[in-house]
Amino acid sequence: MATTEVSISPERLQAAHSAERIPDPCVVVIFGASGDLTKRKLLPALYHLEQGGLLPEKFAVVGVARRPLGDGFAADMRDGIVKGGGVEANDPKLDGFVGKISYHAMNFDDHDGYVKLKDLLDSIDKKHDIGGGRLFYLATAPDYFAEIIHQLGAHGMSRAEKNWVRVIIEKPFGHDLQSARELNDDVNQIFAEDQIFRIDHYLGKETVQNILVFRFANGIFEPLWNRNFIDHVQITAAESMGIEGRGPFYEGAGALRDVVQNHVMELLSFVAMEPPVSFEARTIRDEKIKVWRAIQPILAQDTVRGQYGPGTVDGAEVKGYRQEDRVNPQSTTETFAALRLQIENWRWAGVPFYLRAGKRLGKRSTEITIQFKQPPMRLFNNGKNAPYETIAPNIISMRIQPDDGISLRFDAKVPGPAMSSCSVDMNFNYKDAFGVSSANGYERLLLDAMLGDATLFAHRDGVEATWALMTPILQAWAANPAKDFPNYAAGSWGPKTSDEFLERDGRKWRNQ
Ligand code: BG6
Repeated sequence: MATTEVSISPERLQAAHSAERIPDPCVVVIFGASGDLTKRKLLPALYHLEQGGLLPEKFAVVGVARRPLGDGFAADMRDGIVKGGGVEANDPKLDGFVGKISYHAMNFDDHDGYVKLKDLLDSIDKKHDIGGGRLFYLATAPDYFAEIIHQLGAHGMSRAEKNWVRVIIEKPFGHDLQSARELNDDVNQIFAEDQIFRIDHYLGKETVQNILVFRFANGIFEPLWNRNFIDHVQITAAESMGIEGRGPFYEGAGALRDVVQNHVMELLSFVAMEPPVSFEARTIRDEKIKVWRAIQPILAQDTVRGQYGPGTVDGAEVKGYRQEDRVNPQSTTETFAALRLQIENWRWAGVPFYLRAGKRLGKRSTEITIQFKQPPMRLFNNGKNAPYETIAPNIISMRIQPDDGISLRFDAKVPGPAMSSCSVDMNFNYKDAFGVSSANGYERLLLDAMLGDATLFAHRDGVEATWALMTPILQAWAANPAKDFPNYAAGSWGPKTSDEFLERDGRKWRNQ
């Protein structure tokens, strides 16, 4: 395998980091703080920012949840930062950072709880001389989003007395088009759009942002990036993990709502959008929405759904979905979804996009494959009478995770007297090129929200556009519950129908 010679000097890497601005002093208030996300992702991400010198000195974190955790909360977060964030337990900045964490127990619909929360925030503000900056992070179950938003408004916490107030809202943002619209209406009643940050952590991943850099910072790819040269596009979001104890959430969600409506559709928009006129929130959002709106309605016959049964993953035997904790033993929730769609615009008309996402698949791999059309004729003999179709196509594959990087597959002459060719890869790998693997996404997005930069967040129109595409599929599936579940073994690559789905078009999934 050929490897690209990419090198970046330590000075250049340092300059890229020091271009970051430091946000204003603020208190980050996390609702639903007793959940997994806070401990595994949010606090480690905040601490990584602290380590990188990217947090303001005057800063505090307040966790809010129902359970009476008291001082145990800060200790638990310390544990999360060490285990989830790969931080040394005696890291020099850790104690100081943990000292800025406090906890407030309340029910999310309790008037008194909000009165006390406001007092607590005011006193923390005074103690650390913060000056009014507030970032509310809604990481609760989605059923509480509207309630919390209204209570913040009713208790005078949605408007800045001094400085700014912003709110980050976790996914899922609604569970269909109607509920997403209602939630948007609720949120927009209390907060102005420029205060709202609908988070999709995929947009914080370096490899996802790099799709735009790859396309628009280079002159050689964009001329080929269209229907004249591209045969089709595949986007795979495969996880070997199961539902990790999130039975009640996943039962109401399924793969389409959990990852396709958001993460996969975001990837699609970056791959397919037109060059924006500048790299700013509004121009990027406009281009993304144009892509989603150009997608033709997706018919049920252009979808495949699946659910895993028992199987073997990474050498270990694992349960089937219906045997997971707090899952209905007759559940018809899909843990796998595949779609074919068409973007009817000048660039993409006639190019199929195949998307798939699933739990408990053969390996963890999020990847975008751009498959190019074949050369017009076969000039070299790859084995006597080899059919024309056996020439391997050129492929650009963007590995979002793991092994983050990009490779280009092309044909090269096999050494020897025969004029025969075979495929080789030219490979760019983040770790080799930059000495670091890309971060999980939350660092960048938390920092951007503190800075008020919404470029990498979802906008109201975008959320509704993607739900408009998913809702008819969800309705068709609900009207006709799957009878063949479970239809794939854990550790496989999904149901057989998923392979047949592409075979019908004379194509194959890559990367399995
Ligand atoms: C979350 C989903 O949004 O994304 C999870 O709710 C999924 O089910 C996760 O596992 C995948 O994120 P990542 O960053 O591990 O690819």
